[in-house]
Amino acid sequence: MEPGAGPGPGFHVRTYGCQMNVHDSEKIANLLVHAGWTQEPDDEQSDLLIVNTCSIREKAEHRLYSDLGGLRAWRARRAGRLVGVGGCVAQQVGDGLLARFPQVDFVFGTHTLRLLPALVAAAAEGRRRAETAESSDLERFELPARHPSLERATPGRAYLTVMEGCDMFCSFCIVPITRGREISRPAPSVVREAEALAAGGVVEITLLGQTVNAYGRQERRRGAEGAPSFASLLRRLAAIPGLRRIRYTSPHPIFFDDDLIAVHGELEALCPHVHLPLQSGSDAVLAAMRRRYRADDLRRLVARLRAARPDLALTTDLIVGFPGESEADFAETLALVGELGFADSYAFKYSPRVGTAAAGRGGSVPERVAQERLEALQALQRGLTLAYHRSRVGGSTEVLVEGPSSRSRREGRVGQLSGRDPWHRVVNLPAESFAAARPGDLVPVRIAEATPHSLIAEAL
Ligand code: 5AD
Ligand code: SF4
Repeated sequence: MEPGAGPGPGFHVRTYGCQMNVHDSEKIANLLVHAGWTQEPDDEQSDLLIVNTCSIREKAEHRLYSDLGGLRAWRARRAGRLVGVGGCVAQQVGDGLLARFPQVDFVFGTHTLRLLPALVAAAAEGRRRAETAESSDLERFELPARHPSLERATPGRAYLTVMEGCDMFCSFCIVPITRGREISRPAPSVVREAEALAAGGVVEITLLGQTVNAYGRQERRRGAEGAPSFASLLRRLAAIPGLRRIRYTSPHPIFFDDDLIAVHGELEALCPHVHLPLQSGSDAVLAAMRRRYRADDLRRLVARLRAARPDLALTTDLIVGFPGESEADFAETLALVGELGFADSYAFKYSPRVGTAAAGRGGSVPERVAQERLEALQALQRGLTLAYHRSRVGGSTEVLVEGPSSRSRREGRVGQLSGRDPWHRVVNLPAESFAAARPGDLVPVRIAEATPHSLIAEAL
């Protein structure tokens, strides 16, 4: 069937990686629906499969290579099927993917989403292309409005890109290579999309950027007029009627200026949660990682954020087993994580990425030691998370309902719903007390119980 002719052939997008990739997959789906394709819940019904890849750690990258084996068979099962690869691995490997894998029909990068309909059309005529050029073109932010037939993964909630790329070059990180140079979307364009989202019933937006709080800095550095700071952007967005919750991810600790700290105490719509990637508690490791702050800077920053917003919940990212990390360095990480009392953390074993400054370094930490450190951090965090959850029992709050709780999904039954509170904690809503709640609703609740992974609500 010709794309564009009514309910066209089906596509499915497989997504790996971070929220930026999840949102890119939404943009991909939107572009394809506008081109006449129909989104399918899985690949069996589909004629076009897009793999949106991640390369942050080796394991994520290997997912693509293990997927590609199965996709050769998938493609062969029905004539005319097409496979496209996008995202961070595609950006890095480019047309090498076409050369190595005959089952790949086209490749697109992190800056070339807009070329997708043309790439699909060419592939359908047997022309295999890879388009992964980097660009500093603001046009990439101007994508077609959301097609009315597309459903939201979570009603009421949406991502909104405000900047892309990263100029920080932390020594472990592939992102500056896969996502290119920092570029901020002009504020009027951000505000326009936020207004459209609110008008369409969205109550919670998450602002996305690799170093989201560096918003506008390269533009201001180049003297661009009218490039507001991240704090002023937040103020503008908070004034949009209907937007009840604003979140952002991920900030870099060095880009919290006085004003950004202050807005956390000022704006009711700004959620009392900051994801603050720490990476390590050791100054020696932080320097080797090129993080540009010391442990004490983090202590001061957290104290100031909590002074502005005393109930702030903090979460973080940590890397263990970075080259040269000693037992003493790791002990400093454990100590700082405990001291700052993170409500949650995501700890990863260091994974060398080709092309990054740390990749060739000596002093590598044995796998067994890295694994032990990972487990020690996770054990510490379990205690901190439970303590945080217990501190919430008895309080009342509001939950944005997302859908069936993970337990309901695991057990394949309809029943308990779950959602998130303003502090970004998962809150389960037992079916007997919340029979009327629907995904997208903001439901007032009291926290009745704390578990290691979530909070359990009762009706107010
Ligand atoms: N190895 C392990 N973890 C990494 N991260 C980024 N690069 C690497 C790497 N090479 C982690 C950081 C970052 C999170 C998104 O992924 O903690 O904050
Ligand atoms: Fe990677 Fe550092 Fe940029 Fe974050 S700030 S995306 S960790 S290089």
